[in-house]
Amino acid sequence: MDQQLISTVNRLQDAFATLGPTTNPIDLPQITVVGSQSSGKSSVLENIVGRDFLPRGTGIVTRRPLVLQLINRPATEKSDDAPADEWGEFLHLPGQKFTDFNKIRDEIVRETEQKTGKNAGISNNPINLRIFSPKVLTLTLVDLPGLTKVPVGDQPKDIERMIKEMVLKYITKPNAIILAVTAANTDLANSDGLKLAREVDPEGTRTIGVLTKVDLMDQGTDVVDILAGRVIPLRLGYVPVINRGQRDIEQGKAITSALEHEREFFENHSSYRAKAQYCGTPFLARKLNMILMHHIKATLPDIKQRIQSTLGKYQLELAQLGDNTLGSPSSIVLNVITEFCNEYRTILDGNSQELSSMEL
Ligand code: GDP
Ligand code: NA
Ligand code: MG
Repeated sequence: MDQQLISTVNRLQDAFATLGPTTNPIDLPQITVVGSQSSGKSSVLENIVGRDFLPRGTGIVTRRPLVLQLINRPATEKSDDAPADEWGEFLHLPGQKFTDFNKIRDEIVRETEQKTGKNAGISNNPINLRIFSPKVLTLTLVDLPGLTKVPVGDQPKDIERMIKEMVLKYITKPNAIILAVTAANTDLANSDGLKLAREVDPEGTRTIGVLTKVDLMDQGTDVVDILAGRVIPLRLGYVPVINRGQRDIEQGKAITSALEHEREFFENHSSYRAKAQYCGTPFLARKLNMILMHHIKATLPDIKQRIQSTLGKYQLELAQLGDNTLGSPSSIVLNVITEFCNEYRTILDGNSQELSSMEL
C-alpha cells in the first residue's frame, strides 16, 4: 500500500484520538473478492497484502469467509528481545501472536477444517484474522469461497445458492470495493464474478475487474480488447495480473520473485509492452489506493463537520466550567487539524491528477 496514504490516514486517526473516544472518522471501504472457484481470488489478495499467508490451490480451498483486518502499528526499536513488528492474531485464539506467517496459513486451514470437516464442506461462519504491521493501511479485506455449481464431497445440494448468498452478504455493503476476478483463459461473458458484481453494483462505481492467469492464455490470444473496454466495459476498468501457479506454490516460490516475474512478463509481451505500467499487481494496488483516496475525499467535509461540532461541544463545556485558560488547548487541536486537512487536500489533489492521467 501507498506509504503516503498510510501516513495520511494514520495522522487523521491520531488527530481524532486526541479528541477523545469517537467512532472511527474514516470508515474505509472493505475490499472483497468475487469470482469462480480457483479463479485466483486468494492469490490476488495475498499479492495485494504482500505476504504469504493464505491457503491457495486447485479445488475449493477457501471454505469460510476470512475477514482480514490490517492494522497499522508503528515499528518498535530493534533489539533482540523486542517483539516482532509484524504479526497476526486470530479472534478465536485471543492473545496468541503468530509471527511466522506460514503458521497463520496452517491455523486458517486447521480452523476451516474444525468447522467444516475435511471434505469440501463450507460455512458462513467467518474466520477473523488481524495483521499488525508498520507497512499496512488500516483496512479490511475479505477472502471468500468461489462460486461453484456442482456439489462435491460433503457439500449440500444447494451449494450454488449457499455460496452466492454468502458472497452477496459481503459485496452488497455499499462501502465494499469489489474485485471481480476472472481467469483470462476463460470467457469473460461467462464470468460469475462479473455477473454477481453487476447485481449489487449496476453502475459499476465500486467494481474493479481483475484478470488472472494471463500467463496461461493460448498463444496469440490476449486481453487487450477487454482492457480497452470493447468486451464488457467496466467504469473502473480491468487490471491483468499474474499470480503464482500451482507449481510455484508447491515449490514455495517467494512473493517477491513472483512479482518480479509478473513485471517481466508484461514488459516483454508484445501485446502489453506499450501499456505495461497499467498491468500487474502494483497497478492494481495503486488503483485501490486511488479509490480509497476518493472515498476519503468524499467523506472529508463530513469529517471536518464532525471535528468542528466536537470541538464546539468541548468549548461550550469549558466555558460552562468558567475556565478560559483551557480554551487554548482546543485551539491547538483545531490548528493541528486545519493544517492536517490542508496537507490532506494537497495529497488528494495530487492523486486525482494521477487518476485522470491513468485512464487506460
Ligand atoms: P481461488 O480459489 O479463487 O481463491 O484461487 P487460488 O488463489 O486458490 O488459486 C487457484 C489456483 O490457480 C492455484 O493453483 C493457483 O496457483 C492458480 N493461479 C491463480 N492465479 C494464477 C495466475 O495468474 N497464473 C497461474 N499460472 N496460476 C494461477
Ligand atoms: Na481454489
Ligand atoms: Mg480462495
